[in-house]
Amino acid sequence: MAKQVVHFCFLASALFCLASAFEPKPLQDYCVADPTSPVYVNGMVCKDPEVVQANDFYYSGLHLMGNTSNPFGSKVTPVTVAQLPGLNTLGISMVRIDYAPWGINPPHTHPRATEIMTVLEGSLEVGFVTSYPENRLITKVLYKGDVFVFPVGLVHFQRNVGNTCAVVIGALSSQNPGAISIGNAVFGSNPKISSDFLAKAFQVDTKLVDQLKAKF
Ligand SMILES: *[C@@H]1O[C@H](CO)[C@@H](O)[C@H](O)[C@H]1NC(C)=O
Repeated sequence: MAKQVVHFCFLASALFCLASAFEPKPLQDYCVADPTSPVYVNGMVCKDPEVVQANDFYYSGLHLMGNTSNPFGSKVTPVTVAQLPGLNTLGISMVRIDYAPWGINPPHTHPRATEIMTVLEGSLEVGFVTSYPENRLITKVLYKGDVFVFPVGLVHFQRNVGNTCAVVIGALSSQNPGAISIGNAVFGSNPKISSDFLAKAFQVDTKLVDQLKAKF
């Protein structure tokens, strides 16, 4: 009997590990984020379900084109838990990305989410780099209606390869995917990583590193 109990516990903990490998499974219908709570939890504290409104599950604005007048020629409009409090604990979010002709979304990674996107307008070169095989580039040109997935954590990018504007809608497997831009993280950190360190890391001279730092 005791042996059976041990086996049961082992099985139960194995199942628990599977179920909690990513964001915890919700334990209620919803947990609308209460941004005013001073309590720190993994995610955000729930609003009283009695006072939750339809607008807590609602966002309007993804029909609007983002302003791509910036050096990269792209604009991400996020709909994460910060914009839509009803996403709290649900493990999902959305973005619209606009690209000017030949605009880019520079190399970046989402530490907490896989991203799946579909092209609504235009044509895009997309890609990501794998950890195994080491540093393999997986890349493809996408057209209207095409769908592509960027696996969680991998460095990825997009480039508009047309003379018209491009638009995508993306879905991400976290309420708060996070975005680490490689250029900003390495050359635009606060405080700065020392130039002689970066010069050695990238095998270039410190002058070039300082030029890059000035851009980020
Ligand atoms: C777009 O952004 C640029 C640069 O920040 C700004 O000068 C311009 O006024 C913006 N355009 C619109 C329509 O908001």
